[in-house]
Amino acid sequence: MRAGGEKVLVDVTQRFGDLVVLDRLRFSIAANEFVCVLGKSGCGKTTVANLLAGLLPCSEGAVTIDGVSADPRRHELAFVFQEPSLWPWRTVRDNIRIGLEIKRVPAPELERRVADMIELVGLRGFETYYPYQISGGMKQRVAIARAFAVDADLILMDEPFAALDEQTRHGMQAEVLRIWERKKTTVVFVTHNLEEAIYLAERIIVLTEKPTRIKASLDVELPRPRDYAHPGFIALRKRLGELMGSAW
Ligand SMILES: Nc1ncnc2c1ncn2[C@@H]1O[C@H](COP(=O)(O)OP(=O)(O)O)[C@@H](O)[C@H]1O
Ligand SMILES: [Mg+2]
Repeated sequence: MRAGGEKVLVDVTQRFGDLVVLDRLRFSIAANEFVCVLGKSGCGKTTVANLLAGLLPCSEGAVTIDGVSADPRRHELAFVFQEPSLWPWRTVRDNIRIGLEIKRVPAPELERRVADMIELVGLRGFETYYPYQISGGMKQRVAIARAFAVDADLILMDEPFAALDEQTRHGMQAEVLRIWERKKTTVVFVTHNLEEAIYLAERIIVLTEKPTRIKASLDVELPRPRDYAHPGFIALRKRLGELMGSAW
């Protein structure tokens, strides 16, 4: 774990009726850490993201951020979902402004941050386009820019690139890392994609199937930018494949 202390603590059991989805799931995340939560479809990744966001009450236990129960009114939480949730009546620039407007960031500072993020995600020239005029990858760039524009306590990314073609996905992964390296925000990135987790994470938390516990927590110490053909990458992929089970 990186220096900076524990930022987020998760210790929850989550049930929906009789279904135990998370079974005393416990982990912590350090400030500015980039953690991937890896698990098969249906194991409860989105549930974990919703609990971290304070959008879902814990059936048992708690999620705390800086020692306080996760609460969207007290913490600055930013999301990027699989379907980019842009406001269709707002331009690229005005979508990126949303979080800053909510925070009432003063105009000059707001304009500076928006311009900075537009530059960082490579959307210069597209500021006045509307969501319907841009591709899926560009929409996700807008969502990413919006998330990183505010100084969030925690950025939650729930399979944000699952709907993109492979090449676009690789480009977006590299971009997210570039921005995270500049901004150093705490990121929890949920995915079912082994390579994506290895490429991105400082640490991978591998989940079991329901009732879901932690199968393993692995530090990824491969040099960046990571190379899919690196022997260490291939070895880790094999190890994760084994951890996830034969049906993977
Ligand atoms: N609000 C809900 N009510 C009932 N069951 C739910 C609810 N949300 C999720 N589930 C169930 O919890 C399990 C985990 O769902 P989810 O967190 O979406 O998994 P993942 O994101 O890993 O695919 C699934 O079996 C799903 O059907
Ligand atoms: Mg999900």
